[in-house]
Amino acid sequence: MVCMPRDGPNVNTTEPLIATAQRTLLPIYRQREMVLERGLGSRVWDREGREYVDFAAGIAVTALGHGDPEILAALHEQAARLWHTSNVFYSEPPIRLAEELVAASGFAERVFFCNSGAEANEAAIKLIRKHAAEGGRPPERRVILSFEGAFHGRTLATVTATAQPKYHQGFEPLPPGFRYSAFNDIGALDQAFTDDVAGVLVEPIQGEGGVVSAEPAFLRELRQRCSASGALLVFDEIQCGMGRTGRLWAHQWPQVVPDVMTLAKALGCGFPIGAMLVGAAAAQAMQFGSHGTTFGGNPLAAAIGRVALRKLSSVELLANVQTQSAVLRRGLEQLGAETGVIDTVRGNGLMLGAVLAPAYSGRAGEILDAAAHEGLLLLQAGSGVLRFVPALTIGGVDISEGLARLGRVLRQLD
Ligand SMILES: Cc1ncc(COP(=O)(O)O)c(C=O)c1O
Repeated sequence: MVCMPRDGPNVNTTEPLIATAQRTLLPIYRQREMVLERGLGSRVWDREGREYVDFAAGIAVTALGHGDPEILAALHEQAARLWHTSNVFYSEPPIRLAEELVAASGFAERVFFCNSGAEANEAAIKLIRKHAAEGGRPPERRVILSFEGAFHGRTLATVTATAQPKYHQGFEPLPPGFRYSAFNDIGALDQAFTDDVAGVLVEPIQGEGGVVSAEPAFLRELRQRCSASGALLVFDEIQCGMGRTGRLWAHQWPQVVPDVMTLAKALGCGFPIGAMLVGAAAAQAMQFGSHGTTFGGNPLAAAIGRVALRKLSSVELLANVQTQSAVLRRGLEQLGAETGVIDTVRGNGLMLGAVLAPAYSGRAGEILDAAAHEGLLLLQAGSGVLRFVPALTIGGVDISEGLARLGRVLRQLD
């Protein structure tokens, strides 16, 4: 569907707005020179009326596209009823969402709600430590193992679990008790997974690290070692979960079941909510007073989360992910063959990474800029990888228009 911007072109306000942003916001992001104003499905418009195909979905967040009518209805209905109670009182939406997540997970018994991915992982890290403490492990045997290339968030503990030095610099001293090992390297576990490991934090598909899938054998090995030692296996499905791979959970492909799973991003489809799902092994580790948050799982967020979970679990939506994934992958491979810019395409479902050929690997930022100029919102993952994480509702018309725009960008590169 083609829609015109509601207010018409508004050329005058873009530059002063960006100037104000540059004066007032902490300069920790490098935004493109546009101000996005409105979205519908997989299209977005900026203040000047320019239209974009959205292959970024707010970094794998707006999984139902922009302006989903059922999300909007849930938001309006709940907003008119009750926004927030704090966790000192019960309200129905978080109770129902917890019940539905437990049922959908197939392994979890209990849920903790928070507001973001980092908070969900922070809770998982605390849960690992508490579970180990309850089991009588002394502090020096409560090591958290994570993997090179991982991304788990920006709080001090989650950034420490994020085994990428560039995220650590300047924030030392980092909290102790974290260890890193090579991703997908079973051999390296002999040295890294010693009996002081209390928990393992791993993404079934590394997102920020370059869209790299965990090998099923690697996840099976982690499962086996955790079961043998009593360590907790935590899957960070913040980016790859909630239907993104064409199944509700990414770990359903390798059929390896975690003890704990963290979610955020698509769980709220853009409304902030995160969750930690806990299976039987650790469901009793956290007790009254162990952890908490003011906003986590408030009625407004949970009402939206319920709609997101229901719609993202649907057979039709998951089938669409697989259909559009094949179309997108084929289109990217064809562009790679034609232009030589893309070497390989990897990932699963609508979480795909186009690995740039060596001659172009330093030019992802330039490609993203040019894509925005051509009317395409695109992301990078690690260095030298273009990341494709569109809405899971995206249709063939938007995929082919996005590919056409990307094609124009890649053909113009010298
Ligand atoms: C796998 C993964 N874990 C954790 C996070 C952190 O989530 P948030 O930015 O909501 O704190 C992200 C964010 O990109 C992520 O991709």
